Amino acid sequence: MRLIIVSNRVALPDARKTFAGGLTVAVKAALRDRAGVWFGWSGEISEHPTATPRYLERGRVGYAVIDLSEADYQEYYNGFANRALWPVLHYRVDLQEYSRADQSGYMRVNSHFADQLDKIIEEDDVVWVHDYHLMPLARELRARGRTNPIGFFLHIPCAPPDILQTLPNHEEILGSLVHYDLVGFQTENDRDNFGRYLILQGARQGRGETYALDGRQTRLGAFPVGIETAVYARVARNAARSRFVREIVDSLNGQKLVFGVDRLDYSKGILHRLNAFDRFLELNPDWRQRVTFLQVTPKSREEIHEYAAIGDEVSTLIGKINGRFGEAAWTPVRYVNRSYSRTALAGVYRAADVALVTPLRDGMNLVAKEFVAAQDPEDPGVLILSQFAGAAAELDGALIINPHEVEAVAAAIKQALEMPRDERRERHAPMLAHLMDHDVENWSDSFLSALGETRQRPGLMEGLRAMFGVSA
Ligand code: F6P
Repeated sequence: MRLIIVSNRVALPDARKTFAGGLTVAVKAALRDRAGVWFGWSGEISEHPTATPRYLERGRVGYAVIDLSEADYQEYYNGFANRALWPVLHYRVDLQEYSRADQSGYMRVNSHFADQLDKIIEEDDVVWVHDYHLMPLARELRARGRTNPIGFFLHIPCAPPDILQTLPNHEEILGSLVHYDLVGFQTENDRDNFGRYLILQGARQGRGETYALDGRQTRLGAFPVGIETAVYARVARNAARSRFVREIVDSLNGQKLVFGVDRLDYSKGILHRLNAFDRFLELNPDWRQRVTFLQVTPKSREEIHEYAAIGDEVSTLIGKINGRFGEAAWTPVRYVNRSYSRTALAGVYRAADVALVTPLRDGMNLVAKEFVAAQDPEDPGVLILSQFAGAAAELDGALIINPHEVEAVAAAIKQALEMPRDERRERHAPMLAHLMDHDVENWSDSFLSALGETRQRPGLMEGLRAMFGVSA
């Protein structure tokens, strides 16, 4: 039995490019101790995509990738996935740009993925599909006669039903998730939002978060994604001694370091945190020249207007803050538009006094978890975390803020910078213990065993069949 992972992007083992985002981290870890195949887009655009996937193997894991055509890339990736689904699922109906052409491109690529996967899947394989790019994939595979257990995990938030229903033809896209045996979400809130959506679509709810709709039954669950906590803590310890981190620390001349790392995305609340840092400097003149805010922000989805626009706004605001408070020998905000390796970042997390994680909406936010894991438990830094990140449901030792309240975030920055060591330790220790217990291995194990259970309880299946009159 193999685990077939399917996601839009595949992190090929020899690739030099580091992909930003939690999905890659989680999937890599899920495949570490399993025999499997990771299938998806190669990241390449080609006018003549090959008829079969390119395949390479490393140990027990195979990587099968296909290219997309320019039309696929525009309609499926830039279009429907990132101009329609992404904003809607992040509660940003105002940014949704739906088009029928994009939706049909999205369906076409999902059907193409299914054709290619159909050549790879064996009868006893378990298939685990990841993220919003591939919602209709199970329906496509079922249409090709595939009866394997197929699970889906949504890495990003799931908005409440009123918002989901603003997506034109939502039934066809979101409703297709019932073709999975198990649909996983980051938090109970996300799961419940989707459960309520299914009920509004006419689904009947059974026991144990089971829903039946259109002759299909599916189970919903909350599986908060974790990190490789123990490994990450060790990596951070070593990375903190690297030349890269020492140079940063030396350049600070004893100042405190506030750190932020995010893809350049409107959902991340980068403008909100900058406004808060601006207010903090305004209200606390004694902190000027004693603290530096380092924001690392790899560019993302640059062909989409809103992403280019947020890039311009962030640069302009940073220029204003630096112009307003900066001195010839002190730059309040350092801004870097590139991605660093996870190892390099681990060292910076450990060196940082404060992490500012202020998304307006985020599925989980692994930066928050990585920051906690990277700290020296004897002298940890302080996490400032948005209540709208999935991670806030677990990391209650953080200073939890509403990013829309500038004054409160500014006050939290001051509180974090001035927090006594005892309090920092008291807040940090339980969070670290939680992350040790709920690491990424625990996440993939619990998802996969829940997926297995959907098939291994014939009594329950019979019961549901009798109750709902649904097909298995
Ligand atoms: O976590 C959400 C997500 O869309 C992942 O699917 C993806 O790996 C990451 O963000 C980065 O986005 P993109 O692949 O569009 O660069």
